[in-house]
Amino acid sequence: MSTLALHRQTFGDPADAGNILTREEANALLNEWVKNDRLRLHMQQVGHLMAAWARERERLGPEDQWRWEMAGLLHDADWDQWPEDHCRRIIEELERRHVDPEIIRAIASHGPAHFGVEPVTTMDKMLYAFDELSGLVHAYSLMRPGGYDGMELKGVLKRLKEKTFAAGVNRDDITDACARAGITQNELIAFIIAHQGR
Ligand SMILES: [Fe+2]
Ligand SMILES: [Fe+2]
Repeated sequence: MSTLALHRQTFGDPADAGNILTREEANALLNEWVKNDRLRLHMQQVGHLMAAWARERERLGPEDQWRWEMAGLLHDADWDQWPEDHCRRIIEELERRHVDPEIIRAIASHGPAHFGVEPVTTMDKMLYAFDELSGLVHAYSLMRPGGYDGMELKGVLKRLKEKTFAAGVNRDDITDACARAGITQNELIAFIIAHQGR
């Protein structure tokens, strides 16, 4: 991830609260900006986890589930074409489209050590928490003959301890994110195993 600091703490216009893109608009943006299949899959997986968490743990309704999913689905939208400008471009695009400031803020805080924006809301914290761990669990599924079938927590924990496995995944960020979200790493991994494979 880039080390670009955003040098700002407020995002979007409060007057835009409640404004969301349609699924079609969000998918069109995703497909237009992200040509890399692996990255697109990562964003879809994080979006899927965010929606599942909103539904099952936060007991939110369909519209809020989509708000959470949208934050996940678009969080890395500018990484493919403008990695040096990640995530300033997508923030500015969503501001231009008058998207709800909460969604923009969640995207802006998905890497506090990089972007200099602290995760505050539960949506912010869960996006940060799912981001790196989702990728590690997916990498693990690719090396298992059955993929996600029969995947166990202990297998993921073992890979997590191997620093050379999915070396780009920052273990310190995962520890930090779980502490901020107030959940254990094991709980987060179990949730990802249960939801990411489907
Ligand atoms: Fe990112
Ligand atoms: Fe990401």
